Amino acid sequence: MKNIGKIKHFNEEDVRFATPKEVAEYRANRLKCSRIVDLCCGIGVQTGAFAKTCEQVLGIEIDERKVDNAKKNFPDENLKFIKGDVLDEKVIEKIKDFSPNIIFCDPERLAEEKERNLFSIKPDLKKLIDAYSKITKNICIEMPPRMDLEKLKDFNCEKEYLSINNKLNRLDIYFGELKKSEISVVDVFSEARIEKSKKLIKTKSVKAPLKYIFEISEAIVKADLINEFAGKINALILENKDKNKVFLTSDYFEEDDLLSLCKPYKVIRICNNLNDIIRILKLKGFGKVILKYSIEPKNYWKERNMIENQLNKNMKKEADLFRINNQFVIGEEV
Ligand SMILES: C[S@@+](CC[C@H](N)C(=O)[O-])C[C@H]1O[C@@H](n2cnc3c(N)ncnc32)[C@H](O)[C@@H]1O
Repeated sequence: MKNIGKIKHFNEEDVRFATPKEVAEYRANRLKCSRIVDLCCGIGVQTGAFAKTCEQVLGIEIDERKVDNAKKNFPDENLKFIKGDVLDEKVIEKIKDFSPNIIFCDPERLAEEKERNLFSIKPDLKKLIDAYSKITKNICIEMPPRMDLEKLKDFNCEKEYLSINNKLNRLDIYFGELKKSEISVVDVFSEARIEKSKKLIKTKSVKAPLKYIFEISEAIVKADLINEFAGKINALILENKDKNKVFLTSDYFEEDDLLSLCKPYKVIRICNNLNDIIRILKLKGFGKVILKYSIEPKNYWKERNMIENQLNKNMKKEADLFRINNQFVIGEEV
């Protein structure tokens, strides 16, 4: 379940749209300043995190019930909430008077099927940027993380993907002095960060796995930073026909914060057929096997049970089964 911290005033829907606490804290550190505005602040999870790193915080929200809840959730002295439409001239005037160093916005995401405008977010991105860049150029906006980056090609901003437990979680775009690079990926817990290189980087690839396989965060794949990441952890790209499954490989690895952006597995054996797989899993005392190759969700448990039913059920040890081109690779998480 999503961690939204120790707040008391919310309903089920509010939680679905609220910022996870760990993301709120990461952003609050990155956007630390004297005066910050949180546009579209909902029940205030992000606003409350800003109150810990910034001197004065102003939250704006259109929904009266949410504003009331935000006020009850965060009665901090350095925090003020206003009910209003962020595109309303009077609201913009109040924000101008506050003289913020940074403006943050977590807009409402529209359901994909209702997507009519460019960005499927509310309020409109262009109107928002037009109105607020007159107050400060230092703006950060949360965007739908799976959106096509082509749509942002006319914006001079950093695209920062946030990763939690190897999964893509958020996309934030940074304007003005907040922009540090073109594209970046950050692990929210360790704050390990990787940026797009200005030079073209092409990492060597190999056809067969070495001693370790690395399952890289979805965020790195989405940001297209695979070559940069492989270079940083001294790994090679493992050539794979299945383009949905990108793995790196190496003969060794050293402890590094960047490893929070991938999961390393020790290669136990490369197998050519099911009999081989079962024989090795039994021999090595595995009782469970997680399938790491592309498989239709409806077939996942059928296939997994078919293998596990032939293993010793008393064994708790878990293996991971990869398919690289025409071979299977048995691995174990390090
Ligand atoms: C994704 S939620 C924000 C969640 C918030 N960060 C939190 O942790 O609770 C987006 C919010 O934008 C608000 N919103 C949408 N359009 C708005 C507008 N024009 N002005 C102000 N708020 C707006 C919605 O009511 C919704 O609460």
